[in-house]
Amino acid sequence: MATVKTVATTPFSGQKPGTSGLRKKVAVFAQAHYLENFVQSVFDSIGDIAGKTLVVGGDGRYHNRTAIQTILKMAAANGFAKVMVGRGGILSTPAASCVIRKYQTFGGIILSASHNPGGPTEDFGIKYNIPAGGPAPEAITEAIFARSEKITQYRILDAADLDLDRLGEQHLGEMVVEVFDSVADYAELMQSLFDFDAIRAAFKAGFRMKFDAMHAVTGPYAVEILEHRLGAPAGTVMNGVPLEDFGGGHPDPNLVHAHDLVAALTGAGAPDFGAASDGDGDRNMILGRDFYVTPSDSLAVLAANATLCPGYKAGLKGIARSMPTSAAPDRVAARLGIPAWETPTGWKFFGTLLDAGKATFCGEESFGTGSDHVREKDGLWAVLAWLNVLAVRKQSVAEIVTAHWQDYGRNVYSRHDYEGIDSAAAEGLMEHLRSLSLKGQTLGAYRVAFNDDFAYTDPVDGSVSKKQGIRVVFEDGSRVVFRLSGTGTEGATLRVYIERYEPDAAKHHLDPQVALADLISIARDLAQIEARTGRTEPTVIT
Ligand code: G1P
Ligand code: ZN
Repeated sequence: MATVKTVATTPFSGQKPGTSGLRKKVAVFAQAHYLENFVQSVFDSIGDIAGKTLVVGGDGRYHNRTAIQTILKMAAANGFAKVMVGRGGILSTPAASCVIRKYQTFGGIILSASHNPGGPTEDFGIKYNIPAGGPAPEAITEAIFARSEKITQYRILDAADLDLDRLGEQHLGEMVVEVFDSVADYAELMQSLFDFDAIRAAFKAGFRMKFDAMHAVTGPYAVEILEHRLGAPAGTVMNGVPLEDFGGGHPDPNLVHAHDLVAALTGAGAPDFGAASDGDGDRNMILGRDFYVTPSDSLAVLAANATLCPGYKAGLKGIARSMPTSAAPDRVAARLGIPAWETPTGWKFFGTLLDAGKATFCGEESFGTGSDHVREKDGLWAVLAWLNVLAVRKQSVAEIVTAHWQDYGRNVYSRHDYEGIDSAAAEGLMEHLRSLSLKGQTLGAYRVAFNDDFAYTDPVDGSVSKKQGIRVVFEDGSRVVFRLSGTGTEGATLRVYIERYEPDAAKHHLDPQVALADLISIARDLAQIEARTGRTEPTVIT
């Protein structure tokens, strides 16, 4: 008979969830009591869990299975009636959100460090999602953190490990563990939103695409949906087998890390469409032949074409974007006569707007796009939305995006990341920016309209989030934004976001790095990047 053990423990410092959950090196999570302390802090902070159902799954990275076994035993010892686990411990983040909602559970625990590398010396992560399916809002993550700083004991069942690969029900003490098909519910949801017949017909007529799963979680989802259900030829999905270390790669779908895909989409013989997703399946990158779609433009184009997709035939209620995302989606919202919302960085801020029916589509410049179908960003959702639009409009990606720019003007946009800089230098740089008062000053060809540290009051629940990024906004609407990453595990990452509106179609073809050159140098000077960080160039440009 399995018995409940109460284990004495002492707090670890720094169990503070960041932009998206708690992320640390595997070695940190593997220390005795570390994961247990955090999980108990979650269970102690989310209300009455007795008799409830929890969803558990992860992106399959190194340590996923070990962590899940521990979480199951703790869930049993803490009184959950049931835990639903994706087969093999696999659940993409959007699929987890889908299942949490569909089965009206008490939320879920997602094991992922998203796009960060995986493996014994790399990153691991954990977050709790609420019953609505989205990341816990700050009030809950703060409560979890506060609890973790005072914790004295945790409860765990003394029992053997379960077989996570066997579909069906097993028991842990009095708790039921149901291992379920990680793909089926999600695939069904996608089928309910998009015109699978039109997409299938396009593939039949010779439309070609490549999807790069980057050896991360979306492999099985993409093979099932694209190749099996939509009839794309075998081999459409590249790097489709999830690996614990993502094949040694950095599972981040951008121009730098998804280089295999970028190469495949370059040149005359390239396929019509290319897409990639990240470690846990919530990010996406969209490419046409020799053409890159910025995530901000992708959100704008999808919003403008939403009614072509059966699930959104009735139109959108609103569009939400994170503050650093370009204003391209706002122009679509204005045309549609629907609200445009500007939230802080992080998907958790979209939850209240989606729940309240104030927004239908939302997105971030960081390769995140999604809708009210779940409460996470959703990589394959964006890919299917694009496929739906392409199949109906029968134009190329480049034609659709350039026509969009002609119609709305182009929000020329780029993000420059300076990764792995010294934390104290990064803080100093931000403090310096915060101390500036620039209103009315002329910088190069631009006059500053205002500068501030973005603060947000949630229009639904009234909660206030401060210090969400330094904005320097110019009189013509151009702007540069500075933030420090809240997802890294080593040193600091400075993100600089640069945007300028270009109404003149004759200039839309220009490389953004050229079109934005003067703003880029204004940003570098303002933040004294070289003097403070020693860096002359960013590590990643998207
Ligand atoms: C980054 C992105 C942000 C996204 C988050 C989780 O956070 O910038 O938009 O929501 O990853 O995917 P950051 O590292 O900038 O805090
Ligand atoms: Zn992710």
